Amino acid sequence: MTSIAVLVGSLREDSFNKSLAEAIETLAPEGTTFETGDLNLPLFNQDLEADFPAKAKELKDLVERSDGVLFVTPEYNRSFSGVLKNGIDWASRPWGQNSFNGKPVAIVGASIGALGTTQAQAALRNSLVYLNTEIMGQPEVYFNATTGLNQDGSVADDAKDFLTDFANAFVAFIEKHKN
Ligand code: FNR
Repeated sequence: MTSIAVLVGSLREDSFNKSLAEAIETLAPEGTTFETGDLNLPLFNQDLEADFPAKAKELKDLVERSDGVLFVTPEYNRSFSGVLKNGIDWASRPWGQNSFNGKPVAIVGASIGALGTTQAQAALRNSLVYLNTEIMGQPEVYFNATTGLNQDGSVADDAKDFLTDFANAFVAFIEKHKN
């Protein structure tokens, strides 16, 4: 049994990244469980660390009890979204209680362009290295939502194979690296 926390960096109702996360969940090997973290959190403020907001604590707990974390990021202005950064900041605090420490993680992202999320993923990788995660390098998923999703948000048939490969590889990576 492998448990995965999913952090999607878009709050948009019809988010392509939400659809990508759902597709990976559907295609993952049997016995894998997914739980999506709520990133609709207060803005991080170090003054609040002494009285940690309940929703931010819930996010920390989800990350800590999960075997691995899947980051699903849009690209905003050539970086990952503020929503995702805010969630990461909360779960990395207070100092000495970084919930990501040692976690096996992977990054994927969807946008409307073929090269979309390359820069978002590179920027996110930098933060995740600092946070001492174990990051899966391959396979990479730069998901083109224009060709990869159907009108109803379901994944197109010809995208299923590589997303299945990604899901299988990530579960194997988690099993190899989990504490
Ligand atoms: C974008 N978008 C975008 N796309 C991209 O490939 N590179 C970029 O730098 C940006 N920058 C950007 C900034 C802001 C503020 C917005 C709102 C959008 C387009 C983005 O890829 C598109 O809106 C996606 O649909 C966002 O992901 P979700 O919400 O569909 O998951």
